[in-house]
Amino acid sequence: MQTAIARMLPAILRLPNPENSQPWDIVVRGHCLEVFHTSERDRLGPSPDDLCVLGLGMIAEAISLAASTEGLSVRLSYFLEGRCDREPWLRAELEATGCRADPLAAALTVRLSDRRRYAGGSLADPVFREVEQEESTAEGVNLHLTDRYPAEFLAQVEAADRLIFEIPDIRHDFMRWTRFTDKQILSTRDGMPWRAFLRQPERWYHYPQSRLWWLATCLDWFPAWMMRFEEFLFDDSGRPSPAGYDDCAALGCITTASDRSDDLVAAGRLALRIWLLLNLRGYSFQAMTNVTCIAYPQRLGRWEEPASIIPELGEAYSVLQNMFGFSDQELPIFCFRTGRPIGPFPEKARSLRRDDRVRWAD
Ligand SMILES: Cc1cc2nc3c(=O)[nH]c(=O)nc-3n(C[C@H](O)[C@H](O)[C@H](O)COP(=O)(O)O)c2cc1C
Repeated sequence: MQTAIARMLPAILRLPNPENSQPWDIVVRGHCLEVFHTSERDRLGPSPDDLCVLGLGMIAEAISLAASTEGLSVRLSYFLEGRCDREPWLRAELEATGCRADPLAAALTVRLSDRRRYAGGSLADPVFREVEQEESTAEGVNLHLTDRYPAEFLAQVEAADRLIFEIPDIRHDFMRWTRFTDKQILSTRDGMPWRAFLRQPERWYHYPQSRLWWLATCLDWFPAWMMRFEEFLFDDSGRPSPAGYDDCAALGCITTASDRSDDLVAAGRLALRIWLLLNLRGYSFQAMTNVTCIAYPQRLGRWEEPASIIPELGEAYSVLQNMFGFSDQELPIFCFRTGRPIGPFPEKARSLRRDDRVRWAD
């Protein structure tokens, strides 16, 4: 069993997480995996707590998939009442049952975030029927797909990204996890390499641009006038919100029936399965949670600040609702874009993972 667990761990730890902050630690105790959360590493966003629970759903799914490749079944127990960092949030008990490997497990190690321009694709592609099939088996969550890119949505994405630089706490978190030098990337093995933001192939001038951002981050110097030149520093390839997303095959939105933790866990499990499925079928994928991070807490009456800073963000929920056509009860928690890749993903843009996140208990 221990050898099987050791083989599973690298695939589990490749799971995606916001800003690649890697807030999960695993303790292996006999045939059990206990998952702990480090809140200090997971502070980003206006509704961090609910997004963390969605993240826990992702790790639960990753464990189940990796276990299936070893013929192991998993019994999952969640401990989400009064959660804290000292106690595990999830316990996965593994049992040898000789079950069949889930084909999606093969994508765990190749899955990635592709923020480049895409080469289109079509909602008529049979992969989207498979995606819908995934959704039909999930409870407490819905998936909505569209191949329309309304201007109001693009305006929301831009406004939500502008907010990152308007609210110092969010900006600090975002810049804290952006890695501008190769040395930093290799020594931390977390965060997002600046090359992962490039929308087009790397050119010589991207390098000095990345250094300028590195300097601004070191000095924590982000004057308002400089943000107007954002695209000349980071260029359109590096802007968090490019001018258009009409290069995709589809945009998707996962909604939950409520803010209960079982619905959030279900959303995380579904999000990871769809991500893996699309990558496995050759589609690129980028999570886009900046607008949902505003719409979700606003709908619950938890966070009004964005609209007081950028008024159009007060419309975030209705813009998403008009675009994806979900009902008034649903809460949008996870948006994504997907499409055909423009070419092989550059190795240097790939995010690394820390290898100190597992402890073997006696
Ligand atoms: C819940 C969640 C939300 C995310 N939101 C965004 C987002 O809004 N924009 C983005 O470009 N990437 C987003 N990501 C992708 C992460 O930044 C990415 O998974 C992480 O940096 C690791 O890189 P990798 O996916 O290539 O392994 C999100 C990932 C998760 C799990």
